[in-house]
Amino acid sequence: MHSFKVAVVLALAATLAVAGLIAQAQRGQPAGRFGGTASVENGWTATTAEAAQERASSQPSRPPGGRPLEGFPGRWGARGPRGGGFSSLGSSPLAKDAAEKQILETAARVTPFSNVPMEDGRMIRLLTEAIGAKEAVEIGTSTGYSGLWLALALRNTGGRLTTFEIDPGRAAEARQNFRKAGVEGIVTVVEGDAHQTIKKLRGPIDIVFIDADKEGYRDYLEKLLPLLRPGGLILAHNVSGRGENPEYVEAVTTNPQLETLLVTSQMAITLKKR
Ligand SMILES: C[S@@+](CC[C@H](N)C(=O)[O-])C[C@H]1O[C@@H](n2cnc3c(N)ncnc32)[C@H](O)[C@@H]1O
Repeated sequence: MHSFKVAVVLALAATLAVAGLIAQAQRGQPAGRFGGTASVENGWTATTAEAAQERASSQPSRPPGGRPLEGFPGRWGARGPRGGGFSSLGSSPLAKDAAEKQILETAARVTPFSNVPMEDGRMIRLLTEAIGAKEAVEIGTSTGYSGLWLALALRNTGGRLTTFEIDPGRAAEARQNFRKAGVEGIVTVVEGDAHQTIKKLRGPIDIVFIDADKEGYRDYLEKLLPLLRPGGLILAHNVSGRGENPEYVEAVTTNPQLETLLVTSQMAITLKKR
């Protein structure tokens, strides 16, 4: 009973913290900024993917929107091996229309490779959509799972994602997943070492999700922070617990221009103050 109460209190605290960050991210938003045209001139074009072999997935297919999507909770959901346990209140994602259903169904069938837990994917989507992000950058695409959550938000904000992956096989598989999900038009997968390839990015960027080589987080931060618009967010995965990253944590908690919270067990959310 005691642990249940603690869980409820923690869940409320996390919800309030995220709500506060969203409110800060939205406050003072310059007029028309989110209605404008895309502003990252990255010089890349979406590659026509060489088709990666479609691997059989053990995930069951999902029913139409309006009903819980099977396979999510059992996979990485509220009580899954890497789930936060209470942050999603045990609810499953609900598709509001056919396009969302297609993305969610694709996400459920992604071949797993070090992907974020579903709850973190949902949080990424929520934050991206809440700040009306137009330009999103992801470091560490893997097979495209978190990218699909970003895409869920970006198709509603009129935004786009540039995502970086060093492994050609995973990059190809991610492209295939983005095509299956019907979001290939708003997602560009850039293959290669992101420490080099992100140098081509131009700002302003609205949201960054870092989920790649842990020792590289600080370098990514140094390269991307100048491109992040004031009020923009940097989400960093695996900065606590087993994936502890004290260098990164120090960088984002000692800079007075930044406001950082650890939300769920693994995700640090950093706001670039206005
Ligand atoms: C934890 S996985 C990413 C998971 C993904 N964000 C998701 O949730 O679906 C980390 C990925 O980062 C990639 N990676 C590692 N170092 C990299 C680098 N220097 N440049 C680009 N990608 C890198 C790895 O190949 C791996 O696929």
